[in-house]
Amino acid sequence: MACSLPGTAVALQDFAPARLVGEDGSPLKATEVGTAEAMVFAYPYAGVPCFLINLGAKRAHAHGLTSSDDGGYTNPPGVGRAGNLVAFVAICTHQLTYPTPSISYLRYASTASELATAPGRIVCCAHGSVFDPAEGGQKISGPAPNPLLPVRLAYDPANDGLTATGTVGEKFLQRFFQNYKAELIERFGPGGYRQQVTGTTTAIALGRYSRRVPAC
Ligand code: FES
Repeated sequence: MACSLPGTAVALQDFAPARLVGEDGSPLKATEVGTAEAMVFAYPYAGVPCFLINLGAKRAHAHGLTSSDDGGYTNPPGVGRAGNLVAFVAICTHQLTYPTPSISYLRYASTASELATAPGRIVCCAHGSVFDPAEGGQKISGPAPNPLLPVRLAYDPANDGLTATGTVGEKFLQRFFQNYKAELIERFGPGGYRQQVTGTTTAIALGRYSRRVPAC
């Protein structure tokens, strides 16, 4: 596990690689990731939802960023043939809103919305934070104190496959577990939400993962 003094840059933490697969269990191809909405997958723990996003014509860039929980880091650039595939921990850094099977206030707005004001942003309808997935998940507006935390993806051009390999934000994730312990135990069983994801992780379109995805 990476550790650091406050204010020093940390590397993304390696976790067991998890190949992204579709709902039928077959390996997900990068070319199958649509641009209209995010896909949701669990990583690096069973109870942590992440967004997989295809930015379309946009390319994603790396930046030196800071998390109040975990310190400084550099987000990974986009992957895939066009460098336009990115992934983030789908937990808002304001009050830790996250997608559940019943509702997701957090979503990727591929087209402009009242809150997003421009296409290609991640919005949190809970209290109005907006993030830029092409620029490391940095906050554009709203009360969130930090960027969304990145998930590192590896891309294999030989088979067009995607594998999650690491993230940053261990302290942030532990705070999330603490805040939502009862809810997570109800969904995943005691300790189940803390189980590391290994082997494969299933990616599901957000509109199928959550019954309600409010637009804002
Ligand atoms: S929880 Fe996302 S803006 Fe408050």
